[in-house]
This record gives sequence, structure tokens and C-alpha cells, in this order.
Amino acid sequence: MLVFASVVLALGGVASATPGLRRSSKVKESINVPRNWVNVGTPPADHKINLRIAFPQPNFATLESHLYEVSDPSHPRYGAHLSKEEVDELVKPHGESVDAVSRWLEEHNIQESDCARGPDWVKVKVPVSMAEKMLDTKYYMWQHAVDGDVIVRTTSYALPEDLHEHVSGVQPTTMFGRLKPQRSFISVIDHADSIPESTGSITSGSGTVVDNSCNSTITVTCINELYNVTDFNASATNGNAIGLTGYLEQFANFQDLQDFYADQLPQAVGTNFSVELVNGGENDQTPANAGAEANLDTQFALGVSFPTPGLFWSTGGSPPFIPDTGTPTDTNEPYTEWLDFVLNQTTIPQTISTSYGDDEQTVPESFAITACNGFAQLGARGVSVMFSSGDGGVGDGDSNPATQQCFSNNGTNATVFIPAFPASCPFVTAVGATNHIPETAVSRFFSGGGFSNYFVRPSYQDSVVSAYLAALPEGTYAGLFNASGRAYPDVSAQGDFLRIFIDGSPTLIGGTSASSPTFAGVIALLNSARIDAGLSTLGFLNPFLYSTGFAGLTDILVGNNAGCGTTGFNVTSGWDPVTGLGTPNFGLLKDIVLALP
Ligand SMILES: *[C@@H]1O[C@H](CO)[C@@H](O)[C@H](O)[C@H]1NC(C)=O
Ligand SMILES: *[C@@H]1O[C@H](CO)[C@@H](O)[C@H](O)[C@H]1NC(C)=O
Ligand SMILES: *[C@@H]1O[C@H](CO)[C@@H](O)[C@H](O)[C@H]1NC(C)=O
Ligand SMILES: *[C@@H]1O[C@H](CO)[C@@H](O)[C@H](O)[C@H]1NC(C)=O
Ligand SMILES: *[C@@H]1O[C@H](CO)[C@@H](O)[C@H](O)[C@H]1NC(C)=O
Ligand SMILES: *[C@@H]1O[C@H](CO)[C@@H](O)[C@H](O)[C@H]1NC(C)=O
Ligand SMILES: *[C@@H]1O[C@H](CO)[C@@H](O)[C@H](O)[C@H]1NC(C)=O
Ligand SMILES: *[C@@H]1O[C@H](CO)[C@@H](O)[C@H](O)[C@H]1NC(C)=O
Ligand SMILES: *[C@@H]1O[C@H](CO)[C@@H](O)[C@H](O)[C@H]1NC(C)=O
Repeated sequence: MLVFASVVLALGGVASATPGLRRSSKVKESINVPRNWVNVGTPPADHKINLRIAFPQPNFATLESHLYEVSDPSHPRYGAHLSKEEVDELVKPHGESVDAVSRWLEEHNIQESDCARGPDWVKVKVPVSMAEKMLDTKYYMWQHAVDGDVIVRTTSYALPEDLHEHVSGVQPTTMFGRLKPQRSFISVIDHADSIPESTGSITSGSGTVVDNSCNSTITVTCINELYNVTDFNASATNGNAIGLTGYLEQFANFQDLQDFYADQLPQAVGTNFSVELVNGGENDQTPANAGAEANLDTQFALGVSFPTPGLFWSTGGSPPFIPDTGTPTDTNEPYTEWLDFVLNQTTIPQTISTSYGDDEQTVPESFAITACNGFAQLGARGVSVMFSSGDGGVGDGDSNPATQQCFSNNGTNATVFIPAFPASCPFVTAVGATNHIPETAVSRFFSGGGFSNYFVRPSYQDSVVSAYLAALPEGTYAGLFNASGRAYPDVSAQGDFLRIFIDGSPTLIGGTSASSPTFAGVIALLNSARIDAGLSTLGFLNPFLYSTGFAGLTDILVGNNAGCGTTGFNVTSGWDPVTGLGTPNFGLLKDIVLALP
């Protein structure tokens, strides 16, 4: 019989002081075990945990106001992005907080030399037994009933009472969220299969003329035709670059990129991307180990933005943890590892796309806020950050949306729509999915969209989201979604039938995983045009997109994003929580961004 830790650890027990702790400790965070995680016992005694202790950022509000000023085209400071040093200064914790945490670490005989420090965090690798003592808790191994992954987590942890105000959170503890590639559909077509014959053309919603083969197979040429990518030659040498993140042992294959270029972009053959390894990430070029997600991201982002230099980060440190080996595997959540790394660079690619995420409710709120603040730092430094919006419509991505059930994790199992994180972070641009021409919201799988329960609606989207909500019939989905939350996606792009190469074979692939790198490819071209004109990069896009940029987007007018046993939200004229403001029209956007200061 398996025992859930939530049962074992009555909260009263956690709150009471344990012998040996000098000060009384109090629960800092607790979580209900998300569905599908099963307690499979205690971790090996020598299992090491790399605790990341995050400090509160007393000046975050100042950073946020800088971010909005430099990202708002109507503000005099538009484009005056901050340097690494300026951002680091604004995220610095109080000296008192640093001292209080140092004293606490000393009490546990942890030396400064055992610690790694960043501007707003300290990390220390300790055996699980030590972590349990420090956090007055008990860790268990949890196995995911569907995919078998094992992680080492606890449902609750405590800190000395006087430390609470000095620590925003400690992970990995209650973090059950994982980065799942937001990819729901892959179909492999025969080696012999080629791009369908053209038998005519179709006029898109924006008025561009697109080869009719693009209705069933999307190539870079289709994207260029559909999104009006004409009359512009991006530079390979103006300092512009695009970055793609890879996790979960997803390797981007060099040879597959060459095959993709030979198939769709012959002038690019022989060009390449660079790889940066983060936190023990690897770069396995064995053809059979090429990752569908990594190949999709690199091939479309680089294909659309060609010849913009590309960078692929392979970040290690993710589950699965293999309990049988007894080796001290690092099961840290790798997301912050990447943020810690990239925020420590002085030069960062100006456009970054990530196609990973998880249900917001499986990510502790303090963790979500810390990571989201990290994206704000990227935006303040002039980086445009794109995320796919998820493939589960208004629900989660775990099951077939047609039969999907959506359970609140608040202990009641109530049916609720399940927003995705990081798409729900107000400082990223969340990208939903379309297919066919003229474009509709994808209905084979479902373009993720909805409303955050953690982040309040930002002012940049207030008028369009209010208008959308006001037009909903009274009482629509009452209790299922949080009308005051940050609403997403912001935009959308093609996310179905994209033709890529994996292990030497042409493959059709889909998901909002495809939409984010495609949209990011267009943004990289816009950043290139701005740099050529001696202007700043676009940085955090949303204040621009919602105020003036939407005029360079094509509103999608057909579709919905079913889920949780409902038909989800409908696409409408104007912003909607299915396709956002719409899909890009590069020619129009270029004229708009070149007219900005
Ligand atoms: C940040 O980069 C500097 C210079 O490369 C390096 O010395 C330092 O260890 C890095 N810090 C972190 C937290 O990675
Ligand atoms: C595009 O494909 C869809 C789905 O197969 C079909 O309904 C639609 O008629 C096609 N559009 C055109 C213009 O051929
Ligand atoms: C792009 O480059 C091609 C080939 O060099 C050239 O013919 C074309 O005029 C260029 N277009 C623009 C807009 O600079
Ligand atoms: C791409 O870069 C890698 C690593 O630098 C190299 O091994 C590979 O040969 C390159 N491929 C091409 C086509 O340039
Ligand atoms: C749990 O969530 C449901 C749906 O939002 C809500 O109706 C209910 O009041 C919540 N219960 C608790 C205990 O928070
Ligand atoms: C919620 O669902 C889980 C998994 O089926 C079950 O173990 C638990 O008892 C349910 N809780 C309530 C309050 O119904
Ligand atoms: C709804 O979202 C707000 C933030 O906008 C949050 O404070 C509140 O707790 C959320 N409600 C629920 C039921 O999660
Ligand atoms: C979506 O549109 C359908 C068909 O017009 C309608 O029945 C349904 O109520 C709409 N749903 C929402 C959430 O607006
Ligand atoms: C494509 O962009 C150009 C500007 O580069 C613009 O003149 C043209 O109208 C756009 N085409 C469509 C169909 O929007």
C-alpha cells in the first residue's frame, strides 16, 4: 500500500519545533500533491539535493516600472534597456536577508565554500538528510503514474520563523511541475514523401497569396508567404541572434538541420547554430537521439530568421531521477538553472523561444513568481521572450482534450480550467497555435489559452481582455476560470503540419511548440531590422503588441480551444484567449517597428 506524504506529514507535526533546531520553525510553503504523483518511498540516504534559496527582491517594483517604461513605445524611455549591472542591482536582496540566511547555513555547519551565489539566490548541495533537518521536513520519491518519471520532493517545508521574511522560497521542495514539451502530435511520413505538389494558391486572411500545398504541409517558404516575409535580407553579422532552450535531454541535431535546409532553404546549407551547455547539459549528436522538440525549435526558428545566428542551450539537471542506481542524481528543476546562467551573461540573444511548460497549479506560487521575475529581467535587458501557450486548450496537456477532466489541486478536485506556466507570466509573450489557410485556431489539438490564478491581469491587456469578457454571455464558465488573472495567449502562429527533419527523415509535427519558434523567427527579423537602422531591439513585446503592434497582426476569426469537457473559449474579432491578437504580418510589422523611436 502506497502512502501519500500529505497523510504522513500532518501539518501540526511540521510546525512544531524539532529537537536540535534552536528556533521554532514554521511552515513556509505546502502543496497538495498534484494528481498522478504516487509516493514510492524514501530516497537513498546519500541522495544529494541542490537547494536553491531565493531571496525576496525589495526593489522589484522599481525594476518592473523600468521594464514597462523601456517597453512602452509611447514612453520617452522606450528602448533604453538596462545593463546586466543595473538589473543585478535592482534584484539585490536586503543585506539583512543575506546575513540571516548565512547565519542559518552556519548553524547547520555549511561553509561559505559549499555555496554558490547569484544576485538574488544562494545554492547549496546537501544530502537529503541534511535538507530534511534544515527544512524540518521529510522528502519522498514520487513517481508519475502516466510517464513513470520519479522526482524527490516534499509536500511542505518549514523555516525558522524569523527567516520567513528573508527567504522567498526554497526549491526543490514542493515543486511538482515539470517542463513538458508542449507538443502533442507527431506523424512521420515516408522517406520518399516530399512536399506536396502545388496546384494553385490560396489567399490568406491578411491578403497574402500562399501556395495551396501550405494548407497541409508548412515549410519555411509557406511561413514566408503567409506572414509576408519579403523585401528584407537579415544580417548574419549585425550582432543580432536568436536563442532556443532545450531541456529533458532534447538534443538539436546539426545534420538534421542540413537536411532541412537542403529540403526548404538551399541557400542556408552549410550554416549552423552554436550550442551552449548549461548545468551539465549534453550535446549528443547521435542521429537517433535527435529530439523532436529541439529539432523543431532550431529548424523553424533558424529557417524563418535565416541568416540570423542561432544559439541552442542544452540545460541538464532534470528528472527523471533513477532511484535504483543510488547515484546522487540532480533532480533540480532545470528552469531556474537556465535563468541563473543566462542572466549572468553580459550578451544575450535578443530573441528567445521556449516550448516547455506545465500546469500553473503544479508550480508553487513563490517559484512561479521568482521565475517570472527572471523573465522580467530579460525583458528589461532588451530580450524578447516567447513561450508556447500549451496544447491542452483550456485544460491541461496530460490527456486527450476530448475526454479531458480538469481537477483543481486545492484539495476539492473541483472541475476548473487549468492555466499553463510560464505562459501565464505577464512578462513573456505566449504564443498559441493556428493551422490551415486561411488560418483558424487549431482544432485537432487545442491552442492553450486562459487566465492565470497567480498573476493579476497586467494593464497592457486590460482594455482588450475586458472587452472580450464583457462580450461573453452572463455567467459563462462561472467558477471555471479567474477573470481577474493575466490572460493568454498574446499572439499565435502556425502550429500544425510543420515539416521538419528528425534522424534524417522528413516528419510532420505540430503543437504550440511549433508556434513559438516560428513567431520568434519573425521577431528576430524585426530585431535585425531595428539594429540595422541603429535602433534598440524590441525587448519585452507585450506593451508594444497591445498598443500599436496589433496593427501588424492578422486577427484569427475561426475556432475555439476545447478542454475540460467544454468547448472552451471562442475565437472572436479582436483579442481572444485562443489565438490572442493574431498571427504576424512581417511586412506590416517591419514598417511599424521602424517608425518607433
Ligand atoms: C557569472 O559569470 C562569472 C564570469 O564568467 C563567473 O565567474 C561566475 O561564477 C558566474 N556566476 C554564476 C552564479 O554563475
Ligand atoms: C484547407 O484544409 C482544410 C482541412 O483539410 C479544408 O477544410 C479547407 O477547405 C482547405 N482550404 C483550402 C483553401 O483548400
Ligand atoms: C536581398 O538580397 C538579394 C540577393 O543579394 C537582392 O537581390 C535583394 O535586392 C535584396 N533585398 C533587399 C530588400 O535588400
Ligand atoms: C556545426 O557545428 C558543429 C559544432 O561546432 C560541428 O561539429 C558541425 O560540423 C557543424 N556543421 C556544419 C554543417 O557546419
Ligand atoms: C477550490 O476551487 C474551487 C474551484 O475554483 C472553488 O469553488 C473552491 O471554493 C475551492 N476550495 C478551496 C478549499 O479552496
Ligand atoms: C481527489 O482525487 C484523488 C485522485 O483520484 C483522490 O485520491 C482524492 O481522494 C480526491 N479528493 C477528494 C476530496 O475527492
Ligand atoms: C484569481 O487570480 C487572482 C490574481 O489575479 C488571485 O489573487 C486569486 O487568488 C485567484 N483566485 C483563485 C481562486 O485562484
Ligand atoms: C462559442 O460559440 C458557440 C457557437 O456560436 C456558442 O454556442 C458558445 O456558447 C460559444 N462559447 C463561448 C464560451 O462563448
Ligand atoms: C506586406 O508587407 C508590405 C510592406 O513590406 C506591405 O506593403 C504589403 O501591403 C504587405 N502585404 C499584405 C498582404 O499585407
